[in-house]
Amino acid sequence: MSERWFRVCPRSELKSGQAKSITILGRPYAVFDVGGELFGLDSACKHMRANLANGKIVGHTVECFMHKWRYDIKSGQCLTNEGFDTTSRPVKIVEDVVWIAVEWPENEF
Ligand code: FES
Repeated sequence: MSERWFRVCPRSELKSGQAKSITILGRPYAVFDVGGELFGLDSACKHMRANLANGKIVGHTVECFMHKWRYDIKSGQCLTNEGFDTTSRPVKIVEDVVWIAVEWPENEF
């Protein structure tokens, strides 16, 4: 697997305590703003795949809107159910645009 960067949104559209999600190859990813710091996650909840970008963000945690599983936004750790962590993703800002990196197949088509 290699890594590929994808544009998420202008930095100005992502406010503290919010998340922006994009779908890549059918999978949701999100960038969260926690007090001005950005964090990327695979945003499909490990329970039934609801998008965590639509969850309730409190500090550096997000609570899934479906059945209230909670995750640490900074690490991806599931705080309610051990062993159901999600994956952190690198984030960067280039010319005021937010980008997220995701794994990409080596043999792309
Ligand atoms: S889908 Fe997230 S807690 Fe059920």
